Amino acid sequence: MGASTARKLWDRVTVFDGTRTLPQPMALITCGGRIERLVPSDDLGDDARADCEPMGRGGVITPGLIDCHTHLVFAGQRAAEFEQRLEGASYADIAAAGGGILSTVGAVRAASEDALVDQTRPRLEALIADGVTTIEIKSGYGLRLDDELKMLRAARRLGEELPVRVLTTFLGAHTLPPEFAGRADAYIDEISERMLPKVAEFGLADAVDVFCEHIAFSPAQCERVFQTAARLGLPIKIHAEQLSNQHGTALAARYGALSADHLEWLDDAGVAAMAASGMVATLLPGAFLTLRETRLPPIRALREAGVPMAVATDGNPGSSPMFQLTLMLNLVSTLFGLTPNEALQGVTRHAARALGLIGQAGELAEGRGADFCRWRIDDPVELAYAVQPGRLVQRVFAGRITHGAMNSGVTA
Ligand code: NIG
Ligand code: FE
Repeated sequence: MGASTARKLWDRVTVFDGTRTLPQPMALITCGGRIERLVPSDDLGDDARADCEPMGRGGVITPGLIDCHTHLVFAGQRAAEFEQRLEGASYADIAAAGGGILSTVGAVRAASEDALVDQTRPRLEALIADGVTTIEIKSGYGLRLDDELKMLRAARRLGEELPVRVLTTFLGAHTLPPEFAGRADAYIDEISERMLPKVAEFGLADAVDVFCEHIAFSPAQCERVFQTAARLGLPIKIHAEQLSNQHGTALAARYGALSADHLEWLDDAGVAAMAASGMVATLLPGAFLTLRETRLPPIRALREAGVPMAVATDGNPGSSPMFQLTLMLNLVSTLFGLTPNEALQGVTRHAARALGLIGQAGELAEGRGADFCRWRIDDPVELAYAVQPGRLVQRVFAGRITHGAMNSGVTA
């Protein structure tokens, strides 16, 4: 194959570039792993067209989707808790009775690293088949050094095995493990003095997360984890204001967090702190739906303050057993009132920012990496409007087609 055939062309496609839907039918040319050209099809000369291998015409191209908040590595399932909640128990009641996160901790501790990889693979494959090219995966169901390392290694292995970029997050401060019952500060010592330094030494985490909540850790305890992360040079993020207002978001903003996630109880001061620090608000409508919450995150205030809003699955066995990012596009619009354009930015450009990947993912532009999806639809808004699997025609990861035919037409 000569150099000329290395160029691949998608022609007369509608492009959502991570910010907006471009007004004209576009031609997108890749070379190697990068986007070489992105121009209106009408402006592409015959010579340039002849220099490319045709990959398809028509449909919509978006950046590869980014799921910036997941707990994808876990063992077992918690369907019984779903039934308990339907009978009236709350998420917090179940946690207080030793279920919830701790029930998954038991299953993860009992599972081998290979078993975790095997149980997680189908969930990751489902997300990949739904257009995800970058995903964040947290630990937090091991809650002791070896089991946290096992989870992070399982996540990294899946990223090596499958065509997807995996970023890992250490969430040792997810809930109090049974060995430390009644000694939360001692567990925070364990995280700060032993667990997190080892995770950093092995290079197994790209970021550090905490669960700041009355059923988890106090702001003061979360702050100690942030101080350790800062000392080790790791970016931070926070599960905040999900079930109550603990003012964790403002704390995280003071430490330069990438994002605060959930935010149903976020107040005006929290919104202002986010805007001033430039952090991302990650919205998790799957957890809102599953827990049948009624209090909405302050979307209008976030929008007016110019806080970038990301959207993620929060895929986990308890509060959001949902492993379809395009479904979140619909939920975040119907439940939270995001416009479809905001929702799409939330799984592309703003999700990239929530992962510290500004300029590296979530946008389509000349010179950028070629991670994108081509969909059998006419308008990007349809991705939020209809809940309809099976519309992904082609998925391109690092310039390589991983799903779909090499040259497929959308319109017959
Ligand atoms: O993001 N809020 C805390 N953590 C997860 C739930 C994890 C679980 O229930 O297993 C969340 O909702
Ligand atoms: Fe979460």
